[in-house]
Amino acid sequence: MFDFKVITRDGKARRGKLKTSHGEIDTPVFMPVGTQGTVKAMTHRLLEEIGAQIILGNTYHLYLRPGLDVITGAGGLHRFISWDKPILTDSGGYQVFSLAQGRFGDRKSKVRVSDEGVEFRDHLAGDLHFFTPERVVQIQEAFGSDIIMPLDECVEYPVDKEYARKALERTLSWLDRSIKAKSREEQSLFGIVQGAFFEDLRVEAAKRTVERELPGYAIGGLSVGEPKEIMYSMTELVCEYLPADKPRYLMGVGKPEDIINAVAAGVDMFDCVVPTRNARTGTLFTSLGIVNIRHEKFKKDFSPLDPNCDCYTCRNFTKAYLRHLFVAEEISSYVLNTIHNLRFYLRLMEDIRTAIEVGKFESYRRDILERVTRKL
Ligand code: GUN
Ligand code: ZN
Repeated sequence: MFDFKVITRDGKARRGKLKTSHGEIDTPVFMPVGTQGTVKAMTHRLLEEIGAQIILGNTYHLYLRPGLDVITGAGGLHRFISWDKPILTDSGGYQVFSLAQGRFGDRKSKVRVSDEGVEFRDHLAGDLHFFTPERVVQIQEAFGSDIIMPLDECVEYPVDKEYARKALERTLSWLDRSIKAKSREEQSLFGIVQGAFFEDLRVEAAKRTVERELPGYAIGGLSVGEPKEIMYSMTELVCEYLPADKPRYLMGVGKPEDIINAVAAGVDMFDCVVPTRNARTGTLFTSLGIVNIRHEKFKKDFSPLDPNCDCYTCRNFTKAYLRHLFVAEEISSYVLNTIHNLRFYLRLMEDIRTAIEVGKFESYRRDILERVTRKL
């Protein structure tokens, strides 16, 4: 059911194929975020048109709403949302910490972590819940997601070493409980490497996670406010300790330049809200640089958003029209902007895969890094 093969390498960058029970995925891959069982402003048909191979869902949100009874009643998450390609669900660990605001230790905190699990009040009705590693596996088994993630503890930046070690130990013990709780063959459970921003802790976390011999490994706890250089160096370091023949997933990352740099370090999978969220605030990625479509200077700009983009938005509409829709707060603004930004990301991944195949990844990387960070 689950299989990963590296087809070609170029430096540390890898071009691979990931097989799941809902189909094959070419890596490096970007997974659009569909938190609540939908990628915001997109239909599944649009996602397929732009080349999405897998989407990500969130245990935290789907468990709270519509709830397990609705999803199991529908026959699982794929059937409920009518998406027959692969789905990866995140464990909720990260969402619990980011959404049920106020951190542990804080009196007003809505989250209480113990070795047993995480107690939290949800961001909707404010009800009290308790997530354990076992429960989170059970929920994701009921969803039927192809790739499931264990409950982990992601700490913020900066964090003291003592707490970082505690979170690392907890994440590993929760991983062991998740492995024991797992009962379904056709789903793959990845390990998550934590260890915050301490090199020795990251190396230890990577080695000990790898000892569990899992079908894939994620790097968690990055892009939580640390300087980019630290994120890059931690990613490179962890990749050195991950097995060459298993997929590597950098969670919640990132901007185009972050993805390219992580691919250079040997990462195969990514997810991030940046393309979809930025689309809704009018920040659009193009082959020439970053465009803020709300800008006055586009008022009478009748050229396409990105002359080098093959998406529906760029093939049919002008910047002037996209600016008008954005300023008028039309729903189609969200749709057209999201189609473009996601297609930009998926095309970036296609180009990365081709560059690796033909052995030109480094020159492609240098060229694209300069362009994607430019502000237009
Ligand atoms: N998404 C982004 N970072 C993380 C992380 O550290 N853990 C989990 N579970 N999800 C994430
Ligand atoms: Zn486009």
